[in-house]
Amino acid sequence: MHRRVKVDCPAKVNLYLDVLGKRPDGYHDLVTVMAPVSLCDSISVEPVGRRDELIVDPAEAAPAGPQNTVLRALRQLRTIRKIPPLRIRLAKRIPPGAGLGGGSSDAAGLLRAADRRLSLGLSIADLESLLAKIGSDTAFFAHGTFALCTGRGERVFPVAGAPRPLDLVLACPARPNPTPEIFRRFKRSLTPDPSGVIFFLKVLAGEDKDRIGRALRNALEPAAFAYHPELRGVLRALREAGLAAARMTGSGSGCYGLARSPAEGRRAARRLDGRVFQVRTT
Ligand code: C5P
Repeated sequence: MHRRVKVDCPAKVNLYLDVLGKRPDGYHDLVTVMAPVSLCDSISVEPVGRRDELIVDPAEAAPAGPQNTVLRALRQLRTIRKIPPLRIRLAKRIPPGAGLGGGSSDAAGLLRAADRRLSLGLSIADLESLLAKIGSDTAFFAHGTFALCTGRGERVFPVAGAPRPLDLVLACPARPNPTPEIFRRFKRSLTPDPSGVIFFLKVLAGEDKDRIGRALRNALEPAAFAYHPELRGVLRALREAGLAAARMTGSGSGCYGLARSPAEGRRAARRLDGRVFQVRTT
């Protein structure tokens, strides 16, 4: 009997993102705070047949070829374990190119599903090192918890005593942002502030949503506005819908507004056009 194992792959938002500088290898050093949210893809695996099969639903949501992060994760996994051919079903709901980490979370989901289905006994450290080879924000999903990330984003420090869940409204423009383009347009800050994140975490531990809203940060916004000017309007619409604050997540083009309560989030989501999701950090 072929038993299928299915796991959720949550999106993430960057509640705080500062760029400390450009590195000799072309990447940028970051300090960022990321939280998983309740918008999820899902992935299931079962050993079957003679070759791997990836079925993406809906088919147009992501390429099903070898560049798919799920198949890249499977190739990484085969460098440390013997894995039979798998049939993989990937149900996509997280918009791609939105700064929500969908592809990265799917890669982590593949490893967790294969681990459970095939009893591989993978540790978090195994997941982290396999995922770090796939993308800069990918290792975060080895933990699945609220975390501070540094380096390219691949050095993950789960934060003890995660804050209370935040109610967010995501607004995802139809046009995606390509991450390399946004970093290329980033203009170095004259006053990088590596310790600003400590103040942010302190504010986040409190209850005052307006104060938390003022402390949210994304240093990539000016670069993203230069590439995708409509994003200013998306942030404005979130604020005008009554939310405490609005920021872009990651390199965009997804943006989120912080609601003071679930009811405020529902009201705001109803007032907004386009691809809008009401979510909670988890
Ligand atoms: O690691 P990932 O494939 O997600 O990064 C895509 C691109 O984004 C990199 O090739 C690089 O141009 C840029 N990037 C960066 N600094 C980071 C993360 C990504 O410059 N910390």
